[in-house]
Amino acid sequence: MVRIAPSMLSCDFSRMGEEAKRMETAGADYLHLDVMDGMFVPNISFGIPVIAALRPTTDLPFDVHLMVVEPERYIERFIDAGADWVTVHVEACADVPVALDTIRLRGKRAGLSLNPHTPLERILPYLNKCDYILVMTVEPGYGGQALIPSVLDKIKELREVIRERGLSLEIEVDGGVNLQNAATVIEAGADILVAGSAVFNADDAKATIDALRHHA
Ligand code: DX5
Ligand code: ZN
Repeated sequence: MVRIAPSMLSCDFSRMGEEAKRMETAGADYLHLDVMDGMFVPNISFGIPVIAALRPTTDLPFDVHLMVVEPERYIERFIDAGADWVTVHVEACADVPVALDTIRLRGKRAGLSLNPHTPLERILPYLNKCDYILVMTVEPGYGGQALIPSVLDKIKELREVIRERGLSLEIEVDGGVNLQNAATVIEAGADILVAGSAVFNADDAKATIDALRHHA
């Protein structure tokens, strides 16, 4: 069953705790938290104290997406703040294996992400150190962008590599996922869909989450 991780980047930031609870009630599986440093991506979002403040407001696992240069510097602190899943970017790490090992040594799920124009080959050496791969289907930095269709082939290729190697790695897809393209994204091989604007801008978040999940 496909799982849905609403991205809090599209929530009402003046009421983040209520928004997290609203997603839990609407049937979200995880809460996707986009951390941006203004260096790896042009935008700045929120960081460690905000995630720590949100932690008591919901029982949902926190899926923390670090769009940060040299995320190795902060992994421990994000885990202390309540991250259950930590994603680092292959383009941003000084040492990818160290970053992934740090996450796993703390008993958390380790994810590696790649941008739309980063070739799949860049992440292949690290698959056995990952619990999931976060495939970016938009340039990271902003919510509300359109999914780049050419990335669908990369998802299919990754699905094939996982099958060939017999790995139990999950594929999470992030960026521009909506009711119109969810079926295609799932068919390409996604296990988890991140959805920001599609869920938060919907009149009925629960109906949207259900529809995204059952679109296959
Ligand atoms: C983009 C973020 C995404 C974003 C998704 O840099 O990583 O998680 O919030 O938002 P939508 O679903 O609106 O593209
Ligand atoms: Zn994200």
